[in-house]
Amino acid sequence: MTPRPRVVLGVGGGIAAYKACEVLRGLTETGHDVRVVPTEAALRFVGAATFEALSGHKVATGVFTDVPEVPHVRLGQEADLVLVVPATADLLARAAHGLADDLLTGTLLTARCPVLMAPAMHTEMWEHPATRANVATLRARGTVVTEPASGRLTGVDTGKGRLADPAEIVDLARLLLHRADALPRDLEGVRVVVSAGGTREPLDPVRFLGNRSSGKQGYALARTAAQRGAEVTLVSAHTLALPAPAGVEVVDVGTALQLRDAVHKAAATADVVVMAAAVADFRPADRAEFKIKKTDREPDPVGLTRNPDVLAELVAARRENPGSTQVIVGFAAETGDGRGDVLDHARAKLARKGCDLLVVNAVGAGRAFETEDNAGWLLGADGSEWRIELGSKAQMATEVWDAVGRLRRP
Ligand code: CTP
Repeated sequence: MTPRPRVVLGVGGGIAAYKACEVLRGLTETGHDVRVVPTEAALRFVGAATFEALSGHKVATGVFTDVPEVPHVRLGQEADLVLVVPATADLLARAAHGLADDLLTGTLLTARCPVLMAPAMHTEMWEHPATRANVATLRARGTVVTEPASGRLTGVDTGKGRLADPAEIVDLARLLLHRADALPRDLEGVRVVVSAGGTREPLDPVRFLGNRSSGKQGYALARTAAQRGAEVTLVSAHTLALPAPAGVEVVDVGTALQLRDAVHKAAATADVVVMAAAVADFRPADRAEFKIKKTDREPDPVGLTRNPDVLAELVAARRENPGSTQVIVGFAAETGDGRGDVLDHARAKLARKGCDLLVVNAVGAGRAFETEDNAGWLLGADGSEWRIELGSKAQMATEVWDAVGRLRRP
């Protein structure tokens, strides 16, 4: 049996400390051995008993508990990942300056594994030059400091500084455990548009033609791009169950025509456009104003009209602008058939669509749609082909951004 990955979960003293319990749950339930190291202040928000019960390990805050074990050295040395949730302004400052006045900061100094800090604080504290400098110092040293989300803060105020969604933090933690270098800040200053989900084409006020896309792959692309420093607009069609990725502007759309408008608007100033959405190729020719009632007659057939191909339009718009360095990425879901296998169809689609990269998923038999994992290929317009092994959607997203990076910096 492979040993369970060892995670140290540091908890800072902020109101979001209660969400660390959800992160802890998410990690233990997916087979991680988690040691919780709260600060003294964190224990004023969540009791040690909660962390001990959920992790199955005793917790301590200082270096004078279990002294013969030298825990501040042992925990850091043995960890596969150190995660800090929430990272308060104070904790970021102490980590940036190498202080070691409690068990958590001591552990941060002895850890040689990836370190992920998920900040949560008021907007003013996040934007203060002192915090900006501390975050820059930590990132320059290789610590992954995630972008906080925007939204409701403690009390009635809203703004940037809210802790990223716990499920999102778990996803990023697992990505770093898989690949320590998965979240470089290589997309800073890059404007990215990602479309995600599946469009719905209404027949009447209650019925629609839709598809099975969950939007998870597009969300993973948006999330990882934002954490690599990109400015991301996510055009999202019917993905209501998914939490908005931290640091991403989300534009909700319904139909293919709405998605087309939103994508073109955002793409006008974008460096990279990724069309991960399942856009309906057809829509009902007529949309009934009122609900269609059943009658004794045979129902009328549903007439269909073609939707514009947004990806093809993006490629055509770029062609009109010869100086454009925009990178355009398409997706293809293929089953293969009597005329060719998945890759044959995908190569033909890449040539037909004219995009720079095509992410190919083999679908059917429970694969790709509504699942947590993906496998496939990445095809480049220059003839390059990479196999993407079965892994999380965040892992696949990482491969896509790596390939985009290679295209942008040949
Ligand atoms: N796409 C688009 N606009 C459409 C349809 C698809 O932009 N109206 C984009 C998707 O976002 C995806 C790629 O095109 O990036 C998928 O290509 P598509 O030809 O739609 O794939 P299939 O529907 O699988 O094509 P086919 O039915 O020919 O296999």
